Amino acid sequence: MNFTLQDAQALQTILSARRDVRGNHYIDKTIAPETLDAIFNAANSAPSVGFSQPWEFMIIDDLILRDKIYHEFEKENSKAKAIFHNSSLYPSLKLEGIKEAAYNVAVLYKKPTKAILGQTTQKKMGEYSVVCAIQNLWLMARAYNIGVGWVSILKPKRIQKILNISSDYKLIAYLTMGYVDEFPNEPELQTLNWEAKKQLDDVISKRTNNDD
Ligand SMILES: Cc1cc2nc3c(=O)[nH]c(=O)nc-3n(C[C@H](O)[C@H](O)[C@H](O)COP(=O)(O)O)c2cc1C
Repeated sequence: MNFTLQDAQALQTILSARRDVRGNHYIDKTIAPETLDAIFNAANSAPSVGFSQPWEFMIIDDLILRDKIYHEFEKENSKAKAIFHNSSLYPSLKLEGIKEAAYNVAVLYKKPTKAILGQTTQKKMGEYSVVCAIQNLWLMARAYNIGVGWVSILKPKRIQKILNISSDYKLIAYLTMGYVDEFPNEPELQTLNWEAKKQLDDVISKRTNNDD
């Protein structure tokens, strides 16, 4: 299959318009089952080491469980506030949407029970594959005008305990997902001058062989 320049531009538009969505932007609107399927299909199409496809997705809509997870976030975020005590901005940042989003999704890595082609030297490759699936999910959700937020101010082992996830799995990400009132034009942390956007020159370098 050959794509057109327009296809490439459409992909770039979606990539550029993807945002991390926090609770202040989610709205109360259900996602149609076929749209959810399309989003998880995108995740399930990700590349994976040895084609191991080591991801599983757990949807959490139970409000009691979400309350428990939110409580975990509050505990961890109060520690983070102490770390950033010199910042007047940090305490005002909204850094999750656990209770506001229509869906919460725990993304799991299923630990291998046999040798995986390609993962024999670098053991983390399976977990990296799960991150590829998360990126696919994030982008396809955006293509359907659905926001996703990654909540990482959580202790994975605590979340696994709350969700009764066995040690055969490792929690890679805790995501929120749902329709939004708007997608900010640029990363919020850029708007707030927390970090500046890097340019291509900042991130690309070249090496030449200096051996004689
Ligand atoms: C691995 C990972 C973990 C993240 N964890 C959080 C988080 O805990 N809370 C939060 O508000 N944003 C989190 N983010 C979102 C980033 O802050 C966001 O991607 C970045 O500021 C760029 O903004 P954008 O995604 O809207 O382009 C996370 C993003 C990634 C990739």
